[in-house]
Amino acid sequence: MDVSLVEVTRENVDDVLALEVAPEQASYVATNAKSLAQASFEPHAWFRAIAAGDVLVGFAMAYRDSDARQFYVWRFMLDARFQGRGYGRRAMELLLDEARRAGVEEVTLSVVPGEHSALAFYRSLGFEETGDVDEGELRMRLDLAAS
Ligand SMILES: CC(C)(COP(=O)(O)OP(=O)(O)OC[C@H]1O[C@@H](n2cnc3c(N)ncnc32)[C@H](O)[C@@H]1OP(=O)(O)O)[C@@H](O)C(=O)NCCC(=O)NCCS
Repeated sequence: MDVSLVEVTRENVDDVLALEVAPEQASYVATNAKSLAQASFEPHAWFRAIAAGDVLVGFAMAYRDSDARQFYVWRFMLDARFQGRGYGRRAMELLLDEARRAGVEEVTLSVVPGEHSALAFYRSLGFEETGDVDEGELRMRLDLAAS
């Protein structure tokens, strides 16, 4: 499967901004416009577009702190037209490879529970709930050293 993580550039930023989740998923993830705006004020933000071949299909953003070896998946989305094709799983595997290469031992994220939640998606990738709840979002973690 030809999925890759590509840099967001002047040339492709409009395509990234046009990527949207389904209306019923909108409360689970911020728009890419909001994520890119936040990233421009956060020195530890790391983000990539998700490509399938030449087509941009999604967006991923993390909070990376190289000293503390922290890797927090801040945003992760596949455009509604491209979901359910295995692109999300592959893109997350690539993101985890990237983290592993950077020496990260633990990846964390928080997920909104509910009917259209990505909770099962993250579980299927090996993330486990920590039991912590942060503003209604469930914390999950993946031990990269063990996976
Ligand atoms: C969650 C999301 C990223 C998954 O991407 P995707 O490309 O559709 O997922 P894939 O096709 O790679 O599916 C991977 C696996 O997760 C499962 N899965 C995907 N989305 C799921 C969902 N919402 N609920 C339950 N399981 C899901 C699939 O069944 C598949 O399982 P399998 O490999 O055992 O067959 C995507 O649906 C999305 O962008 N959702 C809206 C935004 C969102 O909620 N982001 C997370 C914010 S924390």
